[in-house]
Amino acid sequence: MTMFEIHIDSLQQSFSASSEQTLLSGMESLGKRGIPVGCRGGGCGVCKVRIDKGRYRCKKMSRAHVSAEEESQGYVLACRCMALSDIQLTVVGQMKKAVFGTQD
Ligand code: FES
Repeated sequence: MTMFEIHIDSLQQSFSASSEQTLLSGMESLGKRGIPVGCRGGGCGVCKVRIDKGRYRCKKMSRAHVSAEEESQGYVLACRCMALSDIQLTVVGQMKKAVFGTQD
């Protein structure tokens, strides 16, 4: 099993994920936060991220959450996507504010 380093640029957060698990479950299994977690099944769209660097593969994603154009630009659902190399990503999911607005 190969482990890859996943770096969330905007948050200066990193975690590792294997090529066999989704980016989201890799993050969760380490008790990390950063990418919003919702249904974990491709249905809600909150875990949407943009892959800025690195290779990955995705299971089928709903066009309701990721359009063909977005997909070609590197937008993916983290719960449907697995790393094939080290990855740099940016969180774009909608719960960002709720997740990170708890400190004030
Ligand atoms: S967590 Fe719901 S689409 Fe990924």
